[in-house]
Amino acid sequence: MPLLLLLMAFLLPPGAGAGEIIGGKEARPHSHPYMAFLQIQSQQGLSACGGFLVRNDFVLTAAHCWGRTITVTLGAHNIHRQERTQQRTRACRATRHPDYNPQTNRNDIMLLKLARPMRRTSAVRPVALPRGRARVRPGDRCTVAGWGQLGLNRRTNRLHEVQLTVQSDSGCSSRFSFYNSQTQICVGNPRKRKSAFLGDSGGPLVCNGVAQGIVSYGNKLGTPPAVFTRIRSFMPWVNRTMRRFKQPCKT
Ligand SMILES: *[C@@H]1O[C@H](CO)[C@@H](O)[C@H](O)[C@H]1NC(C)=O
Repeated sequence: MPLLLLLMAFLLPPGAGAGEIIGGKEARPHSHPYMAFLQIQSQQGLSACGGFLVRNDFVLTAAHCWGRTITVTLGAHNIHRQERTQQRTRACRATRHPDYNPQTNRNDIMLLKLARPMRRTSAVRPVALPRGRARVRPGDRCTVAGWGQLGLNRRTNRLHEVQLTVQSDSGCSSRFSFYNSQTQICVGNPRKRKSAFLGDSGGPLVCNGVAQGIVSYGNKLGTPPAVFTRIRSFMPWVNRTMRRFKQPCKT
């Protein structure tokens, strides 16, 4: 199940409410200055996702967070407050990976071009993307942050974070029939109650200061492991797409 949170509660599938960032804690305000909060207007209604700043004018997120109108907020801790650190704009272009498949959740990656570039401050700063061939390995400890649910019907307005461990691919290929080890990462120890959850979709898995994964999907109850998009395998597409849409959007 994609970990996108529909803001209209009656649209939540029954039994789909079990977690947050499950088992984590409130983040120190602005300690993840690349974190973006996305409000998405689509035919299904209003929903929310995470995303992350990778250039002053580009945010990376999951393809299943796509919608007709996407509002992007950087520099937030409490998304229901108007904090002075916040910078808000909209995505003037939302480019899903051309091979994104909503049935299998494969290639779940989307690049948002921002209508205006974000100003770099202590609360707003891009995160590094993978370079070269280095791969995350089972046992690596990484961090995920998000404004997703904390538990059954437990919403939060403040950014939470959790440390998760990368698993071997077999941990996900045995549970998820469409898991692909080339393009996805299996994350979260099944013996611990720690995971990304509803509303965390699109947020980054950050390992040693580098964004290596994107929250994609997990099971209904939020029990780990969950499946993340492996950013490294999409870097040629990310670079190509950013080059293609280098020019500011016409308004
Ligand atoms: C993407 O671009 C960055 C910065 O220009 C470069 O360091 C990296 O090698 C590129 N990656 C790929 C896979 O093209």
